[in-house]
Amino acid sequence: MSRERSLYVCQDCGGVSPKWLGRCPDCGAWNSLVEQRVERDDSRRGSSSAYAVASAPEFLHSIAADATERQSTGLQELDRVLGGGLVAGAAILLGGEPGIGKSTLMLQIAEGLGRERPVLYVTGEESSAQVALRARRLQVRGEGIRVVAENHWEVIAGILEAEKPAIVLVDSIQTLFSDSLQSAPGSVAQVRECAARLVRHAKSSGASVFLVGHVTKEGAIAGPRVLEHMVDTVLYFEGEAGSPYRLIRAIKNRFGAANELGVFEMRERGLQEVRNPSRLFLSQHERPVPGSVVLATQEGTRPLLVEVQALVTPSPLANPRRVAIGLDPNRLSLLLAILHRHGGSFFFDQDVFVNIAGGIRVDEPAADLAVAMALLGSFRNRPLPDGTVVFGELGLAGEVRPVAATDTRLLEAAKLGFCRAILPRGEHPKMAGFTTLPCARFQDAVDAAFAS
Ligand code: TYD
Ligand code: MG
Repeated sequence: MSRERSLYVCQDCGGVSPKWLGRCPDCGAWNSLVEQRVERDDSRRGSSSAYAVASAPEFLHSIAADATERQSTGLQELDRVLGGGLVAGAAILLGGEPGIGKSTLMLQIAEGLGRERPVLYVTGEESSAQVALRARRLQVRGEGIRVVAENHWEVIAGILEAEKPAIVLVDSIQTLFSDSLQSAPGSVAQVRECAARLVRHAKSSGASVFLVGHVTKEGAIAGPRVLEHMVDTVLYFEGEAGSPYRLIRAIKNRFGAANELGVFEMRERGLQEVRNPSRLFLSQHERPVPGSVVLATQEGTRPLLVEVQALVTPSPLANPRRVAIGLDPNRLSLLLAILHRHGGSFFFDQDVFVNIAGGIRVDEPAADLAVAMALLGSFRNRPLPDGTVVFGELGLAGEVRPVAATDTRLLEAAKLGFCRAILPRGEHPKMAGFTTLPCARFQDAVDAAFAS
């Protein structure tokens, strides 16, 4: 016996409610719940024995764990972000703003992957001819790549059944719709349903599935955000408008380190890999400049030197401005409070701007010390000594807390010609010609930096 009933699904966050409400109880959006008919199969209700045989528990040690074989996408930077290549049966979400290069990347990896295994490129946004045109431009020859312009899930399911591609690229998940739901294509319910079916297909058939998802500028990521928990790997494209550099970051990865970063440059012939990105994010100052501090950050397994720029300037406003670009604004407020309390510097009548140069985002707390030093440097109009890198977390009590990957940060700094590091106390390698200035408290770091 099957019975239909209604559920109400929020079109903003995907939250589900059994009755209609004016306001979504999950995200608080007004008038966003839309009715959806769902079928419930009651035939097996009450008899748990009907389910028992299908999935019997096994002992963990007796389950065969095949060493996951990984296939190269043809782009080493992407392979690294994926944790060393593409895993069969993986479902990967690639999010990013429109125009950042998602379709370009998909075509480029189709080329790499298609050499070994059959690839199906499902395009719901562009016609096959448009895809072909782009492929010519990218000089993708496309052997082993089949293209279908389709956004009807039931048709796509039929194609997957018949063609059995090993790699499925879906551009984009927001354009797909399924007959099983009444809501419009692009609605959260449709996006979720189609994504769930594609993920199920990946798991049952062993095909690897890439889902492209759009993120809007406002950060209302109704699309990709609601899919994050379903997939194995979530990649986001980052980059500044006007800059050719594109970063791909793994936000979540069941098959590798999260926060891994891949760096690309958008050229006429598509995305080119940038193998040594540290230099990229450093401005070339001839002399040290007040308010500029080089931070040795660690993104996943990759150390990266980036420049933190701060500008502190007297404010004409009653509420001075606090602007953070590439950095969490709350973190900036916290650091200003620490500077006030433990650095003896008062910013209440100052406008404060902080920018991570090169359009990169730094979210690790190890950036604290560098940001604080940049703020203080700008405020006092004093530069740090030439060739200095800084990293370390700041505690609310003014202590400098140890961070992970001290070794790789220092080695990267030395490799790029830096000769001094201000860092938390603890074990670290000693290198000839390289001075380390370990600090226990914020004041120690200030003394070390502005001693002369
Ligand atoms: P695209 O992959 O279409 O973005 P998305 O799928 O994320 O919306 O990329 C679009 C931009 O990339 C477009 O502005 C042009 C630029 N581009 C290049 O600079 N070089 C190229 O070879 C290609 C294909 C695109
Ligand atoms: Mg596109």
